[in-house]
Amino acid sequence: MEKTISWVLLAAALILAFGCSKGECKVGDKCSSDQDCGAGLYCFSCLKKVTAGAICVRSTTTNQFQLLNNSLPFNKYAFLTTHNAFAIDGYPQHTPIPRVTETNQEDSITTQLNNGVRALMLDVYDFQGDVWMCHSFSGKCYDFTAFGPAIDFLKEIEGFMSANPSEIVTIILEDYVNADKGLTKVFTDAGLMNYWFPVSGMPKNGGDWPLVSDMVKNDQRLLVFTSISSKESSEGIAYQWNYMVENQCKVFSVHGLSEL
Ligand SMILES: *[C@@H]1O[C@H](CO)[C@@H](O)[C@H](O)[C@H]1NC(C)=O
Repeated sequence: MEKTISWVLLAAALILAFGCSKGECKVGDKCSSDQDCGAGLYCFSCLKKVTAGAICVRSTTTNQFQLLNNSLPFNKYAFLTTHNAFAIDGYPQHTPIPRVTETNQEDSITTQLNNGVRALMLDVYDFQGDVWMCHSFSGKCYDFTAFGPAIDFLKEIEGFMSANPSEIVTIILEDYVNADKGLTKVFTDAGLMNYWFPVSGMPKNGGDWPLVSDMVKNDQRLLVFTSISSKESSEGIAYQWNYMVENQCKVFSVHGLSEL
């Protein structure tokens, strides 16, 4: 009898210490391995070096078109966007010296898209006579801030779009490319002009977008926005702030971030 009680107490103590285990942990619960977390979740430690402990996070997003249908205007749907989608941990070095710049992602572009990301924020620069993706500063790419030629990332997007003919992908460019038609050339070379949604079809003055079903039917499934306003008339690349609004959000401490 005494033994039973002490086992019960021990079990209770373990549950108190850990809260959940063996596939029962929910989003945000502390975990020690993927097996602790429930379906569709995995055990992840963000900011490993700063905060102790890992929590269960979602591995994939919900497909909004399965929740409803795809016959509403494009602007009625919400989707996941990755910031600096190209700044990937462990991305192979493409310059003679190692990178010394921040990374923001752990997944390749293909994995991000397969996991449900539908908009990618990408920083494009003139570099080595071509267009590159770099996490840099002052509008200039350096060997130590360069990730790789833009074509490599764009080809991954093309691969996803050709394999998934009903998916719409949005690209938001932080654009430092001054080369004449530099972006048009790299998007053409990547095979992405085939899916290009023309500026002429984009709504002015905050009106509704075309229906998702029509965008899919017409195979106009790639939306590209640039931060350089003049490129809308010179290259037919939509100027981001003619079509988007944003709200401002700042997190002032790592502690604040872990609480979110
Ligand atoms: C799609 O969903 C909307 C909103 O629920 C509905 O009004 C519309 O009839 C649906 N369209 C189709 C083709 O199912």
